[in-house]
Amino acid sequence: MWNAGSPLRDIVRHARARRVLEDLHVERVFSGDRTLGQGCALAGCAVETALELLERAMARGRSGGADDGGEHPSVAALVQHIVGVHHAYAREAFEKLALLADEVARAHGARHGALGEVRALLDQLAVQQIVHFEKEERVLFPYLVALETARLRGGPLPQPPIGGLATPIRIIATEHGHADRLLEDLRIATRDYTPPDDADDDWRALYEGLRALELDMERHLALENGSLYRRGMALADEPPGSAPGAPSR
Ligand SMILES: [Fe+2]
Ligand SMILES: [Fe+2]
Repeated sequence: MWNAGSPLRDIVRHARARRVLEDLHVERVFSGDRTLGQGCALAGCAVETALELLERAMARGRSGGADDGGEHPSVAALVQHIVGVHHAYAREAFEKLALLADEVARAHGARHGALGEVRALLDQLAVQQIVHFEKEERVLFPYLVALETARLRGGPLPQPPIGGLATPIRIIATEHGHADRLLEDLRIATRDYTPPDDADDDWRALYEGLRALELDMERHLALENGSLYRRGMALADEPPGSAPGAPSR
């Protein structure tokens, strides 16, 4: 269905295909204009290998597999994937993009006021998300893994972090909504990540990086809202409706 000339933007629309590109690190060099062949060359992988893996992943999808985190059979595996892939990616991206945004704002900010806003929005997003990741990794994720283990072994259930599971999940969902709004503001401030025609390489790299960050965060939030926290509520035997406010993306 794809070949070396297929635009990456078409491929990453499919969650299964996108995960293959994540594993090959092709997605990190994603740009709306690049083809699969160009992405593979930059990421240092053979395009034939990528095409074979993509075909296999899509065939698994056609044979009825779930595409909502269901390929991670346990909560523990899903948590490991979220932390190892999405939290790690975002932490690295926040650092790199902050340096780049500083550089671009210093060089062009005087004539392009939006660059200061981009820098400020990125700062807000990074600060908010780093604290958010800490809450998930130190409190909520270990609790969900312990809950799953207790259910599997039939032992006593661990004490939930704050009274019940619905309260911390509601807080987390509110923070996801906040991150979503900041990403939306970034998209507006960068005019859909479109640099001006005379933009230099740093400026273009900054906008490409922001676009890739948004794509990764979409997948990340969808896995947490749509799969991990729903599974957690089921394990805790709490009705899903008791944790309202989870965005649907
Ligand atoms: Fe997360
Ligand atoms: Fe989260």
